[in-house]
Amino acid sequence: MKMKIENIFVVGGGFMGSGIAQTAITAGLNVTLNDLSMTVLEKSKAGIERMLDKNVSKGKMTESERNEAIARLSLSADLKSAVGADLIIEAALEKAEVKKSIFAELSGICGEDTVFATNTSSISIAEIASVVKNPSRFVGMHFFSPVPLMKLLEIVKGIATSQETVDIAKMVGGVLGKTCIVSKDSPAFIVNRMLDPMINEAIGLLEAGIGTVEDIDIGMKYGLNHPMGPLELIDMAGIDIELAVMEVLFAETGDSKYRPTGLLRNMVRMNWLGKKTGKGFYVYHEDGTREVNPDLRFSK
Ligand SMILES: NC(=O)c1ccc[n+]([C@@H]2O[C@H](COP(=O)([O-])OP(=O)(O)OC[C@H]3O[C@@H](n4cnc5c(N)ncnc54)[C@H](O)[C@@H]3O)[C@@H](O)[C@H]2O)c1
Repeated sequence: MKMKIENIFVVGGGFMGSGIAQTAITAGLNVTLNDLSMTVLEKSKAGIERMLDKNVSKGKMTESERNEAIARLSLSADLKSAVGADLIIEAALEKAEVKKSIFAELSGICGEDTVFATNTSSISIAEIASVVKNPSRFVGMHFFSPVPLMKLLEIVKGIATSQETVDIAKMVGGVLGKTCIVSKDSPAFIVNRMLDPMINEAIGLLEAGIGTVEDIDIGMKYGLNHPMGPLELIDMAGIDIELAVMEVLFAETGDSKYRPTGLLRNMVRMNWLGKKTGKGFYVYHEDGTREVNPDLRFSK
């Protein structure tokens, strides 16, 4: 393949963007991390430094490897800094309008050969790619959380995405140590099409009082050997992301089996988004302990 990917511009320095940036700088790539303000970005960088420090103390990397990785990370609150990047990976909010406005702006900043990738969990690649000058260079690169640990990269080929662009995404996935699968551009792709309805169903079981938070999580862990139960998993990934994915699935298919449960909607309305807001199906304490959210102790 002709194209070399050395400089990545990551849009969104939240949970996923920080994980993608950490993984890429550790793999030897240069990353500019972008978010709405330098205050957010300084926090993201401090988080990445903490994660790398942990890796040093566990003997997974040396102090000098850690310092070299951090030296490959730049921060910028200005999308214009994307000029010259080989690859853009967008990990901002799961909202089509937000993603489209970011890529419309980037399309005017970057050259036509730049590969544009979105980490969307569910939104149509065709819809986001419709705003860029060269949609053949647009692809889904769907990472899993926590990005440094999870081995999968789900590549999503939009109707206009070229095979060369898919091959570049696969090559980058390989550099980042990921195993790649390729999905067609269909609502929620392969993995979330299976996962998110299952989590929505788990929330429905809780809402109907069929099982408690603990019963539902223990059921999946001990009955099916899942490493985490569905409710603790979505507390980690973000309950707002679950609602966004179910809304896309429901709107795109019109199938009532994908209707988000009322409890899911109400939790997002209450800003009970999981670990990131300190409260979801569990409440997270500063000392690292957690307990079931007392407001979700429905009686059977
Ligand atoms: N959380 C997961 O497990 C997971 C897994 C795979 C994919 N995703 C997808 O990754 C994306 C990000 O999810 P997250 O969990 O990291 O969310 P998050 O809320 O932790 O982070 C989003 C970040 O984007 C920033 N942002 C918002 N608008 C922006 C803009 N216009 N320009 C630049 N930055 C902007 C926010 O300030 C925030 O820091 C979403 O599309 C989500 O669906 C999430």
